[in-house]
Amino acid sequence: MLKLEAYKKVIVSATVAASVALLAVGCVDDVKPEQTSVAKSAKVAIDGGSVYPVVNGKTGPYYAPDQKLAHKLNYGRVPNAAELAAWDTDLQPVSALSPEGHGIPEGEGSVEDGEEIYDAKCVMCHGDFGSGGGGYPALSKGNAEEMHKTLTNNRWKDPEAPGPVRVFGSYWPEVTTLWWYIRDGMPHPFSDSLTDDEVYALTAYILNINEMSIDGEEVDDDYVLTREKFLKIVMPNVDGFEPVIRGANALPGVRAYFANAKNFGAQNLNQGAVRCMHDCQKATAQVKHIKFGGIKDFTPPMSTVRDLPAKKAKKLDVKKTYTAACAMCHDSYLAPGAPEWSGYTANGMDEVYTKGIKGTEGGMPAKGGTDLSDADFKTMADYLVSGKVK
Ligand code: HEC
Ligand code: HEC
Repeated sequence: MLKLEAYKKVIVSATVAASVALLAVGCVDDVKPEQTSVAKSAKVAIDGGSVYPVVNGKTGPYYAPDQKLAHKLNYGRVPNAAELAAWDTDLQPVSALSPEGHGIPEGEGSVEDGEEIYDAKCVMCHGDFGSGGGGYPALSKGNAEEMHKTLTNNRWKDPEAPGPVRVFGSYWPEVTTLWWYIRDGMPHPFSDSLTDDEVYALTAYILNINEMSIDGEEVDDDYVLTREKFLKIVMPNVDGFEPVIRGANALPGVRAYFANAKNFGAQNLNQGAVRCMHDCQKATAQVKHIKFGGIKDFTPPMSTVRDLPAKKAKKLDVKKTYTAACAMCHDSYLAPGAPEWSGYTANGMDEVYTKGIKGTEGGMPAKGGTDLSDADFKTMADYLVSGKVK
């Protein structure tokens, strides 16, 4: 709660600061808003927002103030210590021996409780036992140590080897990221709604489904995760990233790494090991244009059309759909054209359609568990009842 109060204050004071700053701009004589390129060419997009020129006659939803104007604007203020403390909720990696105790609060939770919370608040998106699917990330693909080995498979030499499995257990170098992710981000969209003990319980459960051990002890179904045990977790991929963030030297090591621009992709720039913010490239950049078809500019213009692209209607293949989605049940009961259908069609086909679309207590899943359109489902029902494809 305290955190939320502080957050509100920051928002309020930022809004006040912004309006004061806007007033201030209005007073500056030589910067009349209508003289700026913004006011001249801002257009209103169909959702009511403005669009601003970017380049080549294209537009974007944001305006970055001209360098000339920037120094006249004076938005916001330096946050005070209390505001900073309220925002500073990050967690240190457990492998970096931080004297502050990594920012992890006291608390504990069992695998058992974790499973219960998971089934109530997470399973609908992350699947049974964290298996993922439906567009949401998997939280486990089985034994973390085993899955970790897939990261170094050489598929040039061994094309049969499975590709890299990148889930929490196999890939993430630090368990604190999981704890933090759950507390601050999940369950989507009700972030920040779990207590610390619930976060411990969910963490315990996710370690359990990744078949992990802590300090040689398996995180089995009876395991209770405490803060003390949490701080002993070593992830299989702890050394899989650079810079290395392990050990007492972690922070200075990371700083040294990022002080050298060559460590993060600056090899081709002329500035060497010095970080660079402007005029970094001494040579002229080589821009390669695609010659084919005379294309000179391949940044597509931003679209102001908000309609989703039309879904291409796929033509229904009745026999194929039957084999793929209905046969496993209907081959043995209510087969296409079977005499038992007369017991279902007595009140007319409309009732058959409606029941098939909604599903029945007698065991027919809604639309047979497919995402067929109503019209296509009706065609399928006609086929089942008559045994003929029209
Ligand atoms: C409404 C759907 C939904 C629910 C419910 C939900 N999540 Fe998520 N979760 C997501 C989405 C979407 C992402 C991916 C977010 C992204 O990548 O930006 C995600 C990501 C995660 C990740 C990171 C996984 C990775 O490999 O990147 C973890 C861990 C996680 N969720 C845990 C949980 C837990 C624990 C709960 C229950 C308390 C939960 N989630 C409930 C939708 C959900
Ligand atoms: C999981 C098994 C299962 C699958 C898969 C399945 N059905 Fe059924 N269906 C049944 C059962 C069982 C009944 C009888 C339900 C009852 O008597 O309440 C039924 C009944 C129906 C009915 C009659 C509904 C009524 O009560 O009037 C229609 C129409 C139908 N199915 C069409 C389909 C079509 C089309 C598919 C494939 C796209 C399909 N079903 C897939 C099990 C299944």
